[in-house]
Amino acid sequence: MKKVIIAIDGHSACGKSTLAKSLAKELKYVYIDSGAMYRAITFYALQNDYILEDGTVLKSQLLDDLNKINISFNYNSVTGKSDTFLNGINVEEEIRKMNVSKSVSAISKLKEVRTKLVDFQRKLGKHKGVVMDGRDIGTVVFPDAELKLWVTANIEVRTARRYKELLEKGQQISLDEVRDNVNFRDLQDSSRKESPLKRANDCKDIDNSTLSKNETLHLAVGYANDAIVSH
Ligand code: DC
Repeated sequence: MKKVIIAIDGHSACGKSTLAKSLAKELKYVYIDSGAMYRAITFYALQNDYILEDGTVLKSQLLDDLNKINISFNYNSVTGKSDTFLNGINVEEEIRKMNVSKSVSAISKLKEVRTKLVDFQRKLGKHKGVVMDGRDIGTVVFPDAELKLWVTANIEVRTARRYKELLEKGQQISLDEVRDNVNFRDLQDSSRKESPLKRANDCKDIDNSTLSKNETLHLAVGYANDAIVSH
């Protein structure tokens, strides 16, 4: 059966990655988390003090280092998921922390960072058979993707899900802080100049505010099967 590219975009914490992972598993496709790449570069910038207390990014220092930043993914047989590596070091846990979430918008709006990562993302999708989630996958990275999904959920549902996720990871955080961060990133992602978050015209919409994970997956599998047979 012919393999296709499935692009999943949407606002922060709307369940894109949960859906993308389960859809990839169902289709025996490769799941690629593009957000993890932006998070890894943000973590690098934080580690090297290229992001000041007031949020200012020392752009030229970071850009000088871009060629030295290597991101890769390795399957973790314990968790059954793929972990993100930055220059050979597993940073999966670190990149999900709030300090990274707070700074990632400032890094992901940089044109040079996006160029590097879009190039990497296209290489990973070269042989198709991938499910990639992010903000610009259906609009910029793979504008010809055979299936584009736009995932949404209302802000309270998204906040509650992300809050639960962070609590389960042992992070001390309030519901308000999570909601503020989700709203902040949505605004930054949608209003930035380079590849802003926007819904592709030829996408299928999935609002999962009142759907379970299985119901959401079921919908997506239906769209994916249609896309696979018609290409
Ligand atoms: O999917 P995520 O929440 O882990 O992504 C983290 C940030 O990275 C998000 O706030 C915006 C940015 N991002 C992006 O600009 N483009 C993508 N394709 C994926 C993520």
